[in-house]
Amino acid sequence: MKKITIDAPLLPHNTFGMDVKAAVLAEYDTVNDLQEILTDPTVASLMQVEKGKGHLPFWHIGSGSNLLFTGDYPGVVLHCSAKGIDTITNIPSNDSDGVCLLKVEAGTLWDDVCAYCACHGLYGPENLSLIPGEMGAAAVQNIGAYGVEISDLIEEVICWDVESAQEHRFSSGEMGYGYRESRLKHPTDKARFIVTSVILRVQRARKLHLEYAGIKRALGIDNVSEAELASSESPTLQEVREAVIRIREGKLPDPKVIGNAGSFFKNPVVDNSVFLPLLAQYPDMPHYVVDHNLTKIPAGWMIEQCGWKGRNLGRAGVYEKQSLVLVNRGGAMPEEIVRLCQTIIDDVEKKFGIRIEPEVNLIEGL
Ligand code: EPU
Repeated sequence: MKKITIDAPLLPHNTFGMDVKAAVLAEYDTVNDLQEILTDPTVASLMQVEKGKGHLPFWHIGSGSNLLFTGDYPGVVLHCSAKGIDTITNIPSNDSDGVCLLKVEAGTLWDDVCAYCACHGLYGPENLSLIPGEMGAAAVQNIGAYGVEISDLIEEVICWDVESAQEHRFSSGEMGYGYRESRLKHPTDKARFIVTSVILRVQRARKLHLEYAGIKRALGIDNVSEAELASSESPTLQEVREAVIRIREGKLPDPKVIGNAGSFFKNPVVDNSVFLPLLAQYPDMPHYVVDHNLTKIPAGWMIEQCGWKGRNLGRAGVYEKQSLVLVNRGGAMPEEIVRLCQTIIDDVEKKFGIRIEPEVNLIEGL
């Protein structure tokens, strides 16, 4: 299947609810269709025009849950509709404790992967349940929650190399993974590689990540020791998935109800020469040690301290239960979200001396 739409509405393709258009929207579900799209004269010439302006030749989107189009997009937007999860190998270690490699097509909804794994007794993705978006984008963004990042589960990322017109496989180590970071987020590789599928490494062995306090609380096992948990059959994989879903539903707005793109900002990682004086000033400041010299500070906490929690600027707002999330209160224009974003960045810098950065992709439009 391939479908090329000129002057395409992007409203169904972004969870922020921005009513903008793309000069071209091209959707495909096989590599052959993708190749045909890239050589289609209309698409190819528009890609050349954008490259000539020093822009990316195309923007590849997933389900549009981590981006903000700041206006009508003058170039080519690509979207992969291929869905599917296949077990490619079971590598037995101890009886049924083996590693299982899954091949997931780029257009598969990430939470469908989590549901599939929970249903088939495959450990690994459960803490990442209910994160919106598709497999390809999840691997590019290195999505993470509750102590797990998808890079922990990635064996290989299979791409289409637009330059050589060949498949290219990146091992997890070659992906340049970091906190919400990968090589495919940077212009050179973003313009060249399109994720077509991902090989995930999941486990039949019972291994849960319950370090994030909220998960234990949601499961009602705050006071159960690690030793007791290790020798118990409870909680089950499905119970952990359900607890994560409850936590997310309690804190994060459903994009089907209120337009948003999840965490709008990254949590800044700062040098201890910045962190320690702040901790002296704000002894209750939540923080996570990254290494001996670096500490991560929750941007949501800083935004709340600046008085933004639940406040609006025009039709853009800060979600009342989680300040890291900007929301569209209804009919907001991209510039209203951008104005709120910039105002918050400036306010946080004034109060804490730290310049926070957007986590969502701001895609420049006209
Ligand atoms: N906090 C506040 N006020 C707020 C928000 C948070 O004081 O308005 C405090 C919380 O009380 C807590 C700390 O900040 O002490 C951290 O909050 P939370 O656990 O909600 O996580 P986060 O750092 O705000 C990150 C991810 C989320 C992920 C959670 C849980 C980023 C950019 N965001 O948020 O990911 O679900 O941790 O692991 O790293 C997403 O990327 O879209 C996303 C939701």
